Amino acid sequence: MINKKLGVNIDHVATIRNARGVLYPNPLKAALIAEKCGADSVTIHLREDRRHIRDYDLKYIKKKLKIPLNLEIAPTKEMVNIAIRYQPNFVCIVPEKRSEITTEGGLNLNKKLIQLKKIILKLNKHKIKVSLFIEPKLLDVLKAKKIGANGIELHTGNFCNLVNKNKSYKAAYKKIKSSAILGRKIGLDVHAGHGLTYNSAKIISKIDCITEYNIGHFIIAESIFVGLKKVIKKFIKIINK
Ligand code: PXP
Repeated sequence: MINKKLGVNIDHVATIRNARGVLYPNPLKAALIAEKCGADSVTIHLREDRRHIRDYDLKYIKKKLKIPLNLEIAPTKEMVNIAIRYQPNFVCIVPEKRSEITTEGGLNLNKKLIQLKKIILKLNKHKIKVSLFIEPKLLDVLKAKKIGANGIELHTGNFCNLVNKNKSYKAAYKKIKSSAILGRKIGLDVHAGHGLTYNSAKIISKIDCITEYNIGHFIIAESIFVGLKKVIKKFIKIINK
């Protein structure tokens, strides 16, 4: 059996920090906890609007983290230069719209093929492996290979929404599975992510050729409930001493 890897996306630790404009919670602390408890990699998305992860987070996380760092970026000159400066182990290229709440879909591989090809080549020259965040479509898997991507990350958002709403997810699952099988067959690293929860991750983990899962929002959300009791008890102790 193939060992499945977990990449922990810590963007939303920064979201909480930035909501107050203070120094905590520190994404670096979250990255080091992920490392300590066995995560295979840490993912951060440096958005163009810096709404969560900031440049200094990237700098310090890259400096202190021993497990691989996966940097999500939009395919822009500014972001490619930042990636080259900080040398993450992996870059995942994602589409970005200012107004979106989260990365709502995969890359449009009809529009940006030549630009993406150049970016992949440039990052590879700097020893950074590149995956493309794509919709689970066979044609997009082939295009990703054609332009030299080292891997693909299949967008699981639609599938996860269906699972969450208790709707039939069979067709969405099939698309992910066939894209994953094709990706593997043509020599791409196949990752998956977006919207995964305990339930959806359990279902999708049956697809053997997906070797890495990148999960963020649910991990941070669930951590609130796993840790809330401990923090409240500690405060009761502190104010009663
Ligand atoms: N993979 C990619 C490429 C993403 O853009 C995101 C969201 O930033 C994730 C995985 C993680 O998604 P979620 O936070 O919903 O688990």
